[in-house]
Amino acid sequence: MNKLKEISLIDLEDIKLFINGKWVTASSNSHFTLNNPSTGEVVTEVPRGGREEAKQAIEAANEAFPAWSKLTAYERADYLLKLRDLMLEHDKELASIMSFEMGKAYTEAVGEVSYAASFLTWYAEEGKRLYGETIPGSASNKRLFVVKQPVGVVAAITPWNFPLAMMTRKLGPAMAAGCTSVVKPASQSPLSALAFAKLVEMAGIPAGVVNIVAGATREISDEIFENPIVKKVSFTGSTEVGRKLVEQSAAQLKKLSLELGGHAPFIIFEDADLELAAEGALASKFRNAGQTCVCANRIYVHETVIDEFSEIFRSKVKELKVGNSLDESVQVGPVVNEEGLNKVEQHVEDAVQKGAKVLHGGSRVEGDGFFYQPTVLSNVTDDMLIMEEETFGPVAPLTAFSDVDEVICKANDTEYGLAAYIYTQDISLSVKVAEAVDFGVIGLNDAMPGVAQAPFGGNKHSGYGREGGKEGIKEYLNVKYISLGL
Ligand code: SIN
Repeated sequence: MNKLKEISLIDLEDIKLFINGKWVTASSNSHFTLNNPSTGEVVTEVPRGGREEAKQAIEAANEAFPAWSKLTAYERADYLLKLRDLMLEHDKELASIMSFEMGKAYTEAVGEVSYAASFLTWYAEEGKRLYGETIPGSASNKRLFVVKQPVGVVAAITPWNFPLAMMTRKLGPAMAAGCTSVVKPASQSPLSALAFAKLVEMAGIPAGVVNIVAGATREISDEIFENPIVKKVSFTGSTEVGRKLVEQSAAQLKKLSLELGGHAPFIIFEDADLELAAEGALASKFRNAGQTCVCANRIYVHETVIDEFSEIFRSKVKELKVGNSLDESVQVGPVVNEEGLNKVEQHVEDAVQKGAKVLHGGSRVEGDGFFYQPTVLSNVTDDMLIMEEETFGPVAPLTAFSDVDEVICKANDTEYGLAAYIYTQDISLSVKVAEAVDFGVIGLNDAMPGVAQAPFGGNKHSGYGREGGKEGIKEYLNVKYISLGL
């Protein structure tokens, strides 16, 4: 594809890791292969960094920390804004890289670049507002102060489904707060992170402030958790891995924030604007081919409007264009790999076997790549796998409800607590339900609540800590109390 010929930020023939401002290979001299999910073809080979590279990166970040943390917030903001400008100047190229390495539809990938850049814009400014406090003392010869200081070297372990946005959602506040970092990108999407590293270099950000180590996940993560230099880890990924990281963090009491899985209920009441709800469900469910932690996984529709809603929704899903993610007209790309495709298939088969009806789609797309047809299922019941586990694919399960308390109870009947959506025009009902559902992010007649300036994160097994907003930068700060005797 022509888009690949335009790539200049990284050399696909010679991929390197970024440590201490230098482009390096792995000391083991081994590589891992990256496949294009749209075609199954090999894209390139990436150096398999391991413990040694993680250690070098951590030490580089440690050396860079004193000077970076001593810059003024205004100086750090200048760097962040320069990096933001470079991201936006290279948005098409970054989108192409993202699209062919992990399968995000190109047009959506361009949108992700601007979403990713928005975290740099917002935190460049927020870094200037890390105010301390003076507290009235209880003795006349004392003055009490509170100051905020960067925690030190941080590690960001980032997911493949938003390779750039989830990285800048961590690095934006970390850098603005004065921290230096080591990023371990997901093995399915290292190139986006390495292209970003090129922009870090172009922005003149001092060596060691940002280091990118792709490679052996277990080895790199062991070094991150065992190396006492690392003071905080921010992880986005599965609940299963999140639990293991909590155990690993215990030995050194490392600060940890976790953005884990979700199983979002999408509730449509009888008075909802059904057209708006169908557009919202479409955007939420089929964004990134259903591979988001916040996507509509359980669509509850009031029994009096479910037939009408199903028809509006099905007719929209039918129009979605599926295909090679680099094609600008494609709306739904492939899922990330064969394993992902098998899970989607298993969820649909299980649902159909237990009585679900396929209103649209319902099978793999024959041919190369990991494509599944955008699918709508009706008559879905609670005993089906799809109502319990994240599908991470383009399948929308519809189910009817009759009563507000019943749907609140069903919405909360999950170990997850990341995002929930409510569609109604009744203000009192919307507030009642928004307050009753146990989720960290609520979209009220809004299917896309994520923005840089608001706190994003989950309750229950969806993790802890928040990213975005003023809450997001607190994760990278220590609070110091100073009592001054006069
Ligand atoms: C996610 O699904 O993990 C992130 C989605 C978002 O930021 O909107």
